[in-house]
Formats: sequence, C-alpha cells, structure tokens
Amino acid sequence: MSVILLTGGMGFIGSNFLHYWKKQHPQDFVINLDLLTYAGNPDNVAELEGQAGYQFVHGNIGDTPLMDQLMKQGVDVVVHFAAESHVDRSIHDPSGFVITNVLGTQRLLESARKHQVKKFVHVSTDEVYGTLGSEGLFTETTPLAPNSPYSASKASSDMFVRAYYETYGFPAVITRCSNNYGPRQFPEKLIPLIITRAIRNESIPIYGDGMNVRDWLYVDDHCSAIERVIEHGEPGQVYNVGGQNERTNLEVVQSILLELDKSTDLIQFVEDRLGHDQRYAIDAAKIRKELGWVPQYSFEAGIKKTIEWYLQHPEWCERIADGSYCKKDGVG
Ligand code: NAD
Ligand code: DAU
Repeated sequence: MSVILLTGGMGFIGSNFLHYWKKQHPQDFVINLDLLTYAGNPDNVAELEGQAGYQFVHGNIGDTPLMDQLMKQGVDVVVHFAAESHVDRSIHDPSGFVITNVLGTQRLLESARKHQVKKFVHVSTDEVYGTLGSEGLFTETTPLAPNSPYSASKASSDMFVRAYYETYGFPAVITRCSNNYGPRQFPEKLIPLIITRAIRNESIPIYGDGMNVRDWLYVDDHCSAIERVIEHGEPGQVYNVGGQNERTNLEVVQSILLELDKSTDLIQFVEDRLGHDQRYAIDAAKIRKELGWVPQYSFEAGIKKTIEWYLQHPEWCERIADGSYCKKDGVG
C-alpha cells in the first residue's frame, strides 16, 4: 500500500486522475488536498466521499504547517496538479498565478523534501515551450519560452522542480502535457464551453480567425501517462505527453456542433486573446519509448465520449451555472 498526496484533486484532471487511480490501485491511500477555488468542484469526486482509502483535506499548497502535518504521516508520492490553470484569467490578473503556481509549488517541494517523499510528480504543460509555427514539434529539449502569465508561472515552477533535483537530489519528475479534454472540465475552457453553450443554443465565441492549433488529449490518456511516470519515471527527467491530435479551434468547434446536430450559425468570431500562441504540438516519443505509454483515444472517440458525459450530467452543468457547486459547507 502506498500513500499518495494528490494536490488539486477537485479540479478537472486531478479528479479524473483520482477516479482512475482508485480503480487501478484500490489498495492505495489517497489524500486529496485542494483549496476549493472557483475551479475546485466537490461534485467531481462525490462518489469517493466516505470510501476507505480516500481523504479530502481542504487547504492551500502554500500552507507550510498544513503540508508538513500531512507529509509527517508518511507520504510516498506527491502528484502535484494544483494550479491556477486558465490563460485568460492570467492575462486579466497574473498575481494569483505567481502565488499558487510559483510560490505554492516551491513551498510544497520544500515540505516534500523535508519529509523525504520518495517521488514528486509535477504536472506541467506544453505551454512552457511557447508557440510553434506551422512546422515542428515540442521535444523535452525545446528551450522554454513562455508567452502568457500562466505559462510563465508554470515555467517558473518547472525551474524550481529542476533546481530541487539538481541541488538536493530530490526525486522529482516533470510531465508536460498538451491540451486535455474530457468529463468534469470547468466550462471556461474551449471544449466544455462549446459543448455546454451549444446544448443551450448559445453563441460560440472563437478568438481571432479560429486557425490556432492545439494538440488534444483525452484526459484518461493523460492519467495513464502520469501512472507510468509515478511507477517508472526517472527522477530529474521531463516527459512530454501528447496524442498527435492537432486541430484548429475552428475544426474542434465544427466537429462538436456536427456531433450535437447544431448549426454552425452559432459560431461568433470575437476579439483575439492577447499574445495568443499560434500552435502547440507535442513529440511524445520519449514517454512512449522509455515508459511504454500508449494513448488509447483518437480525437473522434474521445470527443464523442466527452459530449455524451455532458449530455448525461445536466445537473453538474446546472450546479456550475447557478454557483451551487462551490458551496463549501460539509467539506473540509
Ligand atoms: P483546474 O483549474 O481544473 O484545477 C485546479 C485545482 O487546483 C482546483 O481544484 C483548485 O481548487 C485547486 N487549487 C488551486 N489553487 C490551489 C492551492 N493554492 N492549493 C490547493 N489547491 C489549489 O486545472 P486542470 O485543468 O485540472 O489542470 C491541473 C494541472 O494540470 C495544472 O497544474 C495545469 O497546469 C496542468 N495541465 C493542464 C492541462 C489542461 O489542458 N487542462 C494540460 C497540461 C497541464
Ligand atoms: O496546452 C495545455 C494548456 O491547455 C494547459 O496548460 C492549460 O491549463 C489549459 O487551460 C489549456 O490552455 P489553452 O489556452 O490552450 O486552453 P483554452 O481552452 O483556454 O483555449 C484553447 C484554444 O481555444 C485557444 O487557442 C484559445 C481558444 N479559445 C478559447 C476559449 C475559452 C477560443 O477561441 N474561444 C474561447 O472562448
């Protein structure tokens, strides 16, 4: 039995990872530490509440006494998802991104080092590499060139993780994944925003000309990649994660509207995002070759599964729309 401390487990990827991990490793004890910001949704893990081997702790990764208290119990692995994750919000106000993503991560690293955690998986992003033109892929040796306050904060946290390995020999690993989609994603991000708005016949905002490219990965494939990294990843290494599913934003929107049998008249081209990165695309050869990771979902299969989930969970969407999802009574 291992004790896993997962940060940000009420968010999109963290909650999907929690479900994934409890299914694959029911013997492990998982502590879900989450601050319940606007992005933390207790509905995402409601089925796990009260189950053996699961504990929710309401708190901040930057709260060192709390982190020390949790680590003192004997944590084997930290999987660090918690972050401010939305690029548009970071453009509007970068400060919270520095506090959580940079300072919070450094404090978490320090507690984990002090308490001799055996492995620390830092979940980072392909956005730290900046943007690509029409050719080429990001590899693990692509120089970091973050363009948004969000990606600058993630790149800074990556540098601290690197420094903890280089300076103290702390067993940390970094993953850099492309855009995820799937169940339980907060509808501020492109795919859940389109699905939930299209279901209600509301307009679909596309930034600029819709020709920006993202490399989409179904969230379960990201979870299986992190599982490989926990089990076999080499300390000090970086692993890129991506499924070779490049699509323009316009293609993504059109495929969702087609699947939902909605008119493309819903599309509305709006003002572009400031500093909008043109193209992301991942070379995942290293994790495939060294850790034997193979993604399972094509974009077509993943998007069908995702749309089905949103159609089958209208109450999840309604509780976000009316704000009742974030009532903190009864948790913590
Ligand atoms: P999310 O915004 O859905 O969830 C973030 C979670 O972290 C929320 O539950 C929130 O309450 C919690 N949190 C925020 N600040 C906290 C703090 N100070 N202390 C404790 N908990 C805090 O994010 P996501 O999309 O699930 O992303 C998870 C991680 O994966 C992030 O680190 C992100 O940078 C990275 N990532 C995301 C994607 C993507 O496409 N979504 C792709 C690659 C990497
Ligand atoms: O690449 C990984 C990153 O993917 C993660 O690190 C981030 O946490 C995650 O939010 C995501 O960042 P993006 O900025 O790529 O995701 P977002 O869903 O915000 O936007 C995807 C694309 O769609 C981007 O080119 C902007 C565009 N867009 C987005 C929204 C919300 C629109 O055209 N209209 C919109 O309303």
